Parts: sequence; structure tokens; C-alpha cells
Amino acid sequence: MMSSTTESATRHAIVTGAARGIGLAIAEQLARDGLQVLATDRDADVVQAEAERLRGLGLNVQAAALDVQNRAQVKALFATLPTIDVVVNNAGIASTMLPFRELDAERLRSMLGVNLLGSFIVAQEAVRRMPEGGRVVQIASRGYLGGAGAAHYVASKAAVVGMVRAMSIELRWRGITVNAVAPGMVDTRMLAGYTPEMRRALEQREPAGAAASPQTIADAVSFFASTRAAQCNGQVLFVDGGKSVGMPPL
Ligand SMILES: NC(=O)c1ccc[n+]([C@@H]2O[C@H](COP(=O)([O-])OP(=O)(O)OC[C@H]3O[C@@H](n4cnc5c(N)ncnc54)[C@H](O)[C@@H]3O)[C@@H](O)[C@H]2O)c1
Repeated sequence: MMSSTTESATRHAIVTGAARGIGLAIAEQLARDGLQVLATDRDADVVQAEAERLRGLGLNVQAAALDVQNRAQVKALFATLPTIDVVVNNAGIASTMLPFRELDAERLRSMLGVNLLGSFIVAQEAVRRMPEGGRVVQIASRGYLGGAGAAHYVASKAAVVGMVRAMSIELRWRGITVNAVAPGMVDTRMLAGYTPEMRRALEQREPAGAAASPQTIADAVSFFASTRAAQCNGQVLFVDGGKSVGMPPL
């Protein structure tokens, strides 16, 4: 019997933090790639509305409320899914610049709680249900290389990259790959904490002279999530115009 796309051939993807910004662009791109996408966010109303908008465009996107820090909620949601072929750990928080001497343990704990522990919970519950050929994609940040005024954010993203590398070794025997995308400055609500002057100054330091569009990150995720990326494992792809390589001389 001939059938170009059977139900069993449809790959299922989950994206966290998909109500807006980079996560929303990733959810849309994966759906355009032909995956059945579950867009999740702790902001339930917004992610539901965005999924409805995307369905209006003919895309296969459902939505669900999900706080990545809540393991019981993650477990209950994943138990309703037929399979999880792709999980994109995108949900994350940043904060305004804070000198290291003023950083307190509570801020560090809450940053690690979402960016590291949340990613850990979602990835662990997902890979337990993931078939051969599965894909884990983690959104890290160029910032993990280091940066002033954000030790808690830097530490959370560096830890995430470490986890990606360790996971990639353990999971490759099951045919599952684990990779990270490290964005530079991207035009999302995450930049809302900056004053216009600070934002302009930061943008001038970007190779393109401006924050990138969320779609540039979605394109990189699209590759790692695809069947074409089977030989890429444990990698970090910087999508930052090359700033991570170095800055030109003055
Ligand atoms: N915007 C940038 O310049 C930039 C640069 C590098 C990396 N990143 C990373 O990209 C990812 C997406 O960021 P963005 O710029 O789109 O930010 P954003 O603030 O626009 O979106 C983040 C989304 O995550 C959701 N979220 C936060 N905590 C959550 C939780 N506990 N459970 C579920 N959802 C939660 C928020 O509701 C929001 O919808 C983050 O991991 C961020 O660290 C962003």
C-alpha cells in the first residue's frame, strides 16, 4: 500500500518555553518541517493562543501548560503522548546585570532552578520515552563562555552545556543525539530588562550590529532535530555571527 506520510512516520516534538520569542519560532519551524509539535509554556493562555494561530496557518501544533520545574506535571503530560522523537529545552530565564559581589544565593538558585534543573527534568523524562533516532536539543547561550554581571546566568548555561556533553555519550548507544544551540543576542522579550541605551551599546558589539531574529535560532534547531543530523552529537553550535570566535582589532 502506498502512502507518502503515514501516521507512524510522523515525528513528534515537544518545545518548552514556546509561548513567545525563540521557543515560538522553534515550534513553528519544526511544524513547517513536518513534525507534530507540542508547544508548552508556563504561560498557558499565551501558548494556547499562539498554537491556535499556527493551526490557522495549517500547521500541526498543539499546546499545553508546562512548568519545566514541576516534575509531576512533566511526567503527567508526557504520559499522554504516543512518543517523543524530539525535545527542545528552550525555556529559560535571564536577569538584569548584577555584579558578582552583589549576587546572592537565592538568585543563583532560582536561575539554576529553571535553566539547569528544568532542562534536566524535561530531558530525563523525555529520553525515558524516546525511541531510537531521538533528538534532544538544548538552548544554551553564547554567554556560557563568560560575561560580566551575569555569573548566575553564565553558570546555568555552562552547566547545561556540560550536561549536553555527558548525555550525548550515554545516549548515543540508543541512537539518540544530544546537542546545544548557543545564541548570541536575539530580539525577544528577554532583552526587555535593558534600557534603550544599554541595548544599543550591546547591539553595537554584535557582528551584525543588531540583535538577531529568533528564526536564526529556529533554523539551527531544525537541523539538529532532523534525521539528517544523526552524526552530530554532543556539539554546541554558536549562532552569533561569529562573536564567540573573537572580536576584530580596534
Ligand atoms: N534572547 C537572547 O538574547 C538569548 C540569548 C541567548 C540564549 N537565549 C536563551 O533562549 C531561550 C529562550 O529565550 P527568549 O529570548 O525567547 O526569552 P523569552 O523570555 O522571550 O521566552 C522565554 C519563555 O520561557 C518561558 N518560561 C520561563 N520559565 C519557564 C518555566 N519554568 N517553565 C516553562 N516555561 C518557562 C517564558 O514564559 C517564556 O515564554 C532561553 O533559554 C534563553 O536563555 C536567549
